[in-house]
Amino acid sequence: MLGFLSSRPRPLIAAHRGASAAAPENTLAAFRAAIDLGADVIELDVQRAADGHLIIIHDPTVDRTTNGRGAVASHSLAALKALDAGGWFNPRFAGERLPTLQEAVETVGSAAGLFIEIKQGPVFDDGIEAVVAAVIREAGLVARCEVSSFDHFSVRRMKDHVPEVACGILYEARLIDPFGAARLAAAEIVHPYWALSTPELVEEAHRLGYGVVVWTVNDPEAMARLAASGVDAIVTDVPDVLRRVLGR
Ligand code: G3P
Ligand code: CA
Repeated sequence: MLGFLSSRPRPLIAAHRGASAAAPENTLAAFRAAIDLGADVIELDVQRAADGHLIIIHDPTVDRTTNGRGAVASHSLAALKALDAGGWFNPRFAGERLPTLQEAVETVGSAAGLFIEIKQGPVFDDGIEAVVAAVIREAGLVARCEVSSFDHFSVRRMKDHVPEVACGILYEARLIDPFGAARLAAAEIVHPYWALSTPELVEEAHRLGYGVVVWTVNDPEAMARLAASGVDAIVTDVPDVLRRVLGR
């Protein structure tokens, strides 16, 4: 998995929504900050605007992370682009915009890999995977990204569109059979909430050929413990802290 980063040491440092402690989450400023802070991978969340364009934002509404109101899916791309996505975090980021996936890909370039999380619910968008797949193919990203979702139907549809892209299942409950769930979704990677990851889970994952990506880990002691257990990547808001913990 993540062959494009095979030359980098494990665990990979993955910046959650970019370096989201240093800059407003899921903005180009956060992605640039993550690269500056030494992240191997940028994690971001993708949804669709009312007119079908891909937009990078975490919540189903724009209320928390912009100066606008309402569901993401009720706004056109132009309306989303008119929102301020930085001022809520700090006035010095005022004017920062919600990026499209294409803009995020161009900004990150070859400086880091991408964990693209497809956000689904409360409205389920069965057409988003085809649009994400087109961006991945056109940008030549197949070998430089991984696609994940809490919606395992979405992961499986992604695989149907681009079988060669690495895919992962996100989960935050204690699944009886996480690898069975991954198999049903055609995923090669499991993304447990960090507290669900044990050395036994990691060992079993690797024995079966699955990668393990844990999220979201900001506590240095937990980072050290998870790194020692052999996880493949740690998703964090503070990539600089993780880098120090890993001695890089
Ligand atoms: O990397 C997984 C993590 O991003 C999932 O949680 O809610 O921050 O998207 P969330
Ligand atoms: Ca996410």
